[in-house]
Amino acid sequence: MYKYLFKTRLLVKQFYNRNDGAHKLDHADQVYGNMQKLIILDNVEIDPKLVILSAYFHDIKVYKSRKYHEILAADFMKKNRYLFDVSDSDFQLVVTSILEHRSRVENRTSMLSHLLSSGDSLPISNINNIITRMYNYQKTYMGDNDIDKIIKNIYRHLMDKFSSNGYKKYDSLMRKYFDHDIHRLQKICDNITDQEIKTIILNK
Ligand SMILES: [Fe+2]
Ligand SMILES: [Fe+2]
Repeated sequence: MYKYLFKTRLLVKQFYNRNDGAHKLDHADQVYGNMQKLIILDNVEIDPKLVILSAYFHDIKVYKSRKYHEILAADFMKKNRYLFDVSDSDFQLVVTSILEHRSRVENRTSMLSHLLSSGDSLPISNINNIITRMYNYQKTYMGDNDIDKIIKNIYRHLMDKFSSNGYKKYDSLMRKYFDHDIHRLQKICDNITDQEIKTIILNK
């Protein structure tokens, strides 16, 4: 399977290179590693090829449109079906998992979808990592100059997405094993201040 992983990484690298600082190839690597951990944790039986394809193709189109990147990735895969040496039903599973990976999705239709969404959300135990990733994203578009504006954007994003009232819907697999971490993160975000965000960014 290492060969398949190597081949897939090579194929998607050109896309991730064009993405913002929070969605480079190391993000796909991390999601893949998280999915593997979840497979062990939940005793899942699944074709490792599908896990590789799902993890490595899920964010290939972030550089084109953050808002619609899952749809663009699915379209790319369908247009380039010949690249994927899997059965039609497995191909459909992978494409659907990518379409269902976003935070706002309420119900996911397969174990592969649960694995991708949960793997994409981890780790959540460390607020510093989450803020550093947001900073890398902001930096791509705003440079390093307007640090106060970056902090404001990060603060707003933490409130909108990760606080107790945030829009982020955690996948059921994620809630099964990381419920404690989810609540802890929500509480931290409810109470975080601009100054704390600044300290984390400056000490990263
Ligand atoms: Fe994504
Ligand atoms: Fe992602």
